[in-house]
Amino acid sequence: MAKDSNTQSYIVTFKPSNLTIQVAADQALQEACYEQGIILPLSCENGACQICEAQLLSGTLDQRQGYQVDLQKGQILESPNQVLLCLTYPLSDLEIYMPEIYAPGHSPATTLACQVSSVEALNASVYRIELLAPAGSKLNYLPGQYLELHVADQQLPYSIANAPDPEKPRRLELQISDHNDVTASIIAELKAAADNRTTVKATLAKGECFLAELPKQPILLVCAGTGFSQIQCLAEAILMQDPEHEVHLYWSNRTLDDFYLYDTPRQWQSQHTNFTFHPILETKLEGNANSWQGRAGWIYEVIHEDFNDLSQVQMYACGSPNMIHGTLDQLEKLGLSENNMHSDVFSYAPRNKKN
Ligand code: FES
Repeated sequence: MAKDSNTQSYIVTFKPSNLTIQVAADQALQEACYEQGIILPLSCENGACQICEAQLLSGTLDQRQGYQVDLQKGQILESPNQVLLCLTYPLSDLEIYMPEIYAPGHSPATTLACQVSSVEALNASVYRIELLAPAGSKLNYLPGQYLELHVADQQLPYSIANAPDPEKPRRLELQISDHNDVTASIIAELKAAADNRTTVKATLAKGECFLAELPKQPILLVCAGTGFSQIQCLAEAILMQDPEHEVHLYWSNRTLDDFYLYDTPRQWQSQHTNFTFHPILETKLEGNANSWQGRAGWIYEVIHEDFNDLSQVQMYACGSPNMIHGTLDQLEKLGLSENNMHSDVFSYAPRNKKN
């Protein structure tokens, strides 16, 4: 059903990124994407190469191949409902699963040789790494995305902790914990690169949990441990675009020392009227309960205390698969769903859809 009957257009939502575009009646989907700066994987554009194959999740479309595909929202698929985006003409609002699309201003991943400009300890185990992209290069990433660092003969994913900033267009911040031998050797390699003024390679940008457009709804930012790095990037981007947006940041840790940048969200709270920081300890400090003025318990318990209805919020969450899936399960009864909860976990550790 057309959302806007006056202009006869349809809303197409791409999953899992939640990027949306408006497509006029009788307009090709690929043409609307081109006009609105969204990059689709396209090659032959005539149905031969199938590089643009995607899955229709809901809605009705014309494939201009003599058949119409119709799928109702919530319908359980017997078999994947594959469609070719280069041939698609929407006949209703659509939801389409296609991870490999790029939002306006964003382009496919590239590898850059970056200078390691500093390695700074933030607490006993977490380091802030500052990288500088080569002069003249252009950093293309969206808030919430990650890069892959080429270290220890591997390509390891790390969230980009700073929002794109025209004032510092070459800067990339990472927050890395040296909690085991492998990560300790990575920190040592980065320190050596900083001391010797050698470069490390970084491939960016990756990840489907990003902020392409600022939603109108209140935003809940939820993280545990160094998941704060992705959340810091998102918070910076949100506050740059709308300093008065309603934001609740829930950061959970095992110990007080694990809040390695405690003053950063406290500062956001003091500077922005509608920004609230909720530090959470997983358990109350034994014998020291009075020293902790924050909250204690599981993240979902604390959020449950604060909200009766989560159907009208957008949540961005960074943590372990258990934490992300558990939080969703516990808060579904308040209206949270995979549609309004965004996390990289849904891409790299998906669960089977519930019947
Ligand atoms: S671009 Fe080749 S099938 Fe669509």
